[in-house]
Amino acid sequence: MAKPKIVIGNWKMNKDFEEAEDLITKIEEELADYQLQTEVVLCPPAVYAELVTDHASLEDSRFYAGLQNVSEFPNGAYTGEISAEMLASMDVDFCIVGHSERRKFFGETDEIVLKKMHRLLDNQIVPVMCCGETLEERKAGKHFEVVGKQIEATICTLKPEELERTMIAYEPIWAIGTGETATPAQAQEMLAFIRSLIEKKFGTELAVYTYILYGGSCNAKNALELFSQPDVDGGLIGGASLKPEDFIKIIEAAETVIKDN
Ligand code: PGA
Repeated sequence: MAKPKIVIGNWKMNKDFEEAEDLITKIEEELADYQLQTEVVLCPPAVYAELVTDHASLEDSRFYAGLQNVSEFPNGAYTGEISAEMLASMDVDFCIVGHSERRKFFGETDEIVLKKMHRLLDNQIVPVMCCGETLEERKAGKHFEVVGKQIEATICTLKPEELERTMIAYEPIWAIGTGETATPAQAQEMLAFIRSLIEKKFGTELAVYTYILYGGSCNAKNALELFSQPDVDGGLIGGASLKPEDFIKIIEAAETVIKDN
């Protein structure tokens, strides 16, 4: 059987409380009729964590609870921060780390990203580590070098048993929120490259097992072709995850690919 896909919704800093409640309810209702093989994760803003964890903890829930960021520090005097211990105590299963918006606007370096990954792993939460190059870097032909360095500095330093509980999302920065998606060939090429780095360091079995997702203007129209690429294990979805109809179509695309393989 084909490897199940993963579709993760990254809401970023959007929706008020009522809208968030509404979106979760709609997605839950839509998914109620499905026998899903695809794993679905919703990552709302942290202030709404309980909305998703409450739903995700139901026996017949169709999705997992995720968040978008975590502190690099353990509990203590860090005003405004949210710790991995807190996430764990609320049964959050996944957490995005190193998103390019955090790297750009909040100065997150690979070193900080790695600390956050360890905080999550120590608390049994799956880190979804984002990597990707800028348009300038791609135009200069440096995309493999840039992404390779991000992977070497984070993923390749993990122990095999830590990598087993970690996911990667390749998100070319020029494709995020721009409507300009990487072509399926570009996505496949980079994901295969990332997998080859993992294979070199950890061996074939773990490289095949590791979930590597594509993100960046993935939508209801292009998801099927993107998910059909052999190395694309699913998607990290921003804008389209805020519209239930579109998000469901993306999940349906993932299901179609699993069933056809
Ligand atoms: P987008 O965002 O789908 O709106 O391009 C993806 C992401 O940043 O995770």
